[in-house]
Amino acid sequence: MKYLPQEIIRKKRDGGKLSDDEIADFIAGIKTGETTDVQVAAFTMSVFFNDLSTDERVALTIALRDSGDCMDWSAMFLNGPVLDKHSTGGIGDNVSLMLAPILAVCGAYVPMISGRGLGHTGGTLDKLDSIPGYNTLPDPADFRAIVKQVGCAVIGQTPNMVPADKKMYGIRDVTASVEADALITPSILSKKLASGLDGLILDVKTGSGAFMQTLEDSERLANSLLTVSRQAGLPTSAIITDMNQPLASAVGNAVEVKNAVDFLTGAHIDARLYDVTVALCSEMLILGSMEKDQKAAEIRVKEALSSGAAAECFGRMCAALNGPKDFVENMDKYLEFAPIIVDIPSLTSGVIADINTRNIGLAAIKLGAGRTDPSAPIDFGVGFDQCLPIGTKVECGQTIARVFARSDDDAKMATDLMQKAYEIGNNYEPDKLVYKILNDKPI
Ligand code: URA
Repeated sequence: MKYLPQEIIRKKRDGGKLSDDEIADFIAGIKTGETTDVQVAAFTMSVFFNDLSTDERVALTIALRDSGDCMDWSAMFLNGPVLDKHSTGGIGDNVSLMLAPILAVCGAYVPMISGRGLGHTGGTLDKLDSIPGYNTLPDPADFRAIVKQVGCAVIGQTPNMVPADKKMYGIRDVTASVEADALITPSILSKKLASGLDGLILDVKTGSGAFMQTLEDSERLANSLLTVSRQAGLPTSAIITDMNQPLASAVGNAVEVKNAVDFLTGAHIDARLYDVTVALCSEMLILGSMEKDQKAAEIRVKEALSSGAAAECFGRMCAALNGPKDFVENMDKYLEFAPIIVDIPSLTSGVIADINTRNIGLAAIKLGAGRTDPSAPIDFGVGFDQCLPIGTKVECGQTIARVFARSDDDAKMATDLMQKAYEIGNNYEPDKLVYKILNDKPI
């Protein structure tokens, strides 16, 4: 190493600005073991308190990206742009499961590297694991071939993709340094840059079920992600969307997969989920220069859905990744749901005025749908469905959601938590769904 890790930490501790070279050296040392875990912990805590400039964030993003394999699609001779989306995380956010096949049908290629649940939020990878046989860690050559053939493949992070972020993220998680824009930005973007994308859309969530609960915080993170991503050479747009209630009416793993397939086939479409999915897909078609304006893009996205082509594409992706060949047609045969299914009644009459969305995520984790121990298995079959949205009029005793649980005690616990999360009142403030689209603003 050219620099002593402790000297780099000292400089940041004292509020200094690190050079690209110093950052690259420190991060390269994570791979060789010359930068130790305690030094990574001290570094991230110094950044937590003293922040990173935009240049430093870009340098950290690139250094993390270069710690492992990067995908190169040029040898695949694809006839469309390589696009992806990242969501900052929420409850009932199964958009990726629809967005990837919709974009593929529209002519883009979507090599989506998804993550597991984090904190109170759900993860796409955990949802996909509820499909029997679906391989979320295919061989990289197979992954590339499936993306070319089907148009999309949603998988997990391969072991040699951005290993320095994996190490740094694990250390941040247990040393209270997750919540810093200067660290979140490089962590998210290094993985997206390693995917060799032509364009990225960021769905930055805001509200009671998001990590960023205020619009101001969400906008600050969105701008950090946009600035750094663009400076690192990746065309990027961002949409700030509402997370003051679950996006889908289902929260869990198998229940969210069912909700997504029902959405694709048209059997059941949640209105808010539809609007966010269409907004994100349309923006991506514009970003990928596949459509000129919002109106044309929306027509194309809606057609991909209503024609059944996106559902068919999802089915082909499942089959290509070793899932059942008839998953879309016969998903009820394959998805396993917990046996105790209980209607959760409203305790009063009125209108659903507010939903403490974070507490719904925590209730799902308590049922077993998420992790309290990072290495522990999760229960794909538990969760909630039929969750009513804000603004719905309800009578006392009317079902506001259903719980899928493994025991009567768990069902009772979850019922209680849901009834507390739902606030029934006399009126409600309609929430916006899409707060801001940040696309062509030079920042
Ligand atoms: N997701 C990531 O990948 N990294 C973070 O730091 C936060 C969310």
